[in-house]
Amino acid sequence: MRIGGIETAPQHFLGDYPNFKWEGFKHIVPDDLAGRSVLDIGCNAGFYTMEMKRRNAGRVVGIDSDARYLEQARFAAKHEGLDIEYRQMSVYEVPQLKERFDLVIFMGVLYHLRHPLLALDLLYEHVVDDMMLFQCLQRGDERIPDLQENYDFSEWSLFDQPDYPKLFFVEERYASDPTNWFLPNTAAMEAMLRSAGFVIRENPEREVYLLGRGKRHYAVEPPSFVKQS
Ligand SMILES: C[S@@+](CC[C@H](N)C(=O)[O-])C[C@H]1O[C@@H](n2cnc3c(N)ncnc32)[C@H](O)[C@@H]1O
Repeated sequence: MRIGGIETAPQHFLGDYPNFKWEGFKHIVPDDLAGRSVLDIGCNAGFYTMEMKRRNAGRVVGIDSDARYLEQARFAAKHEGLDIEYRQMSVYEVPQLKERFDLVIFMGVLYHLRHPLLALDLLYEHVVDDMMLFQCLQRGDERIPDLQENYDFSEWSLFDQPDYPKLFFVEERYASDPTNWFLPNTAAMEAMLRSAGFVIRENPEREVYLLGRGKRHYAVEPPSFVKQS
């Protein structure tokens, strides 16, 4: 990230991150957000909140569970003269916001969660009004299998199919990061989003999606603490 043209982490192992990543898909977000509201969950040092404000967003709120990142974000936004609200808050606490946002950004957070489907359900039920910019680390097969409506209890080989939806539980053994928990393959990622009620509007590059709201389709209703009252 750059503040006042100065690169803040020139030694970062991913380079000028997240700027170079943003370059690859920034065209899927409207150039002019025309006063629309934005919530960035897991906002880190505020890169996406500042980009949205520069695109003429109205109210912009960034939340993160880590107070140190929020301090960096406040410092950067102040330096850039951007009016952004930052709050220490976990994704599981979004119902407390009691507000829906035109654009929710949920980039690079899902695989850090022990309860990924709970997070997606809460976002759908409580904060996403129109669209969600989403990214999650994926590993394994990138194909989407052609699945039947249902399989018999005796079916076994299906689960060895590489493209079958899979959610790898990496525990504390991946990328030296003990906060990595579940990594989906592409089919599992898209199925999880779908089952939470999201529809894919754009998929400009692997792992990155612009989502809209669709209909939830699971047979069992979510528990009352997930559903909006
Ligand atoms: C890999 S970084 C992604 C940062 C940024 N969204 C991006 O895409 O560049 C993950 C961020 O999510 C935050 N985070 C992790 N668990 C969280 C949770 N339960 N609620 C909110 N933020 C969380 C971390 O503190 C960190 O800032």
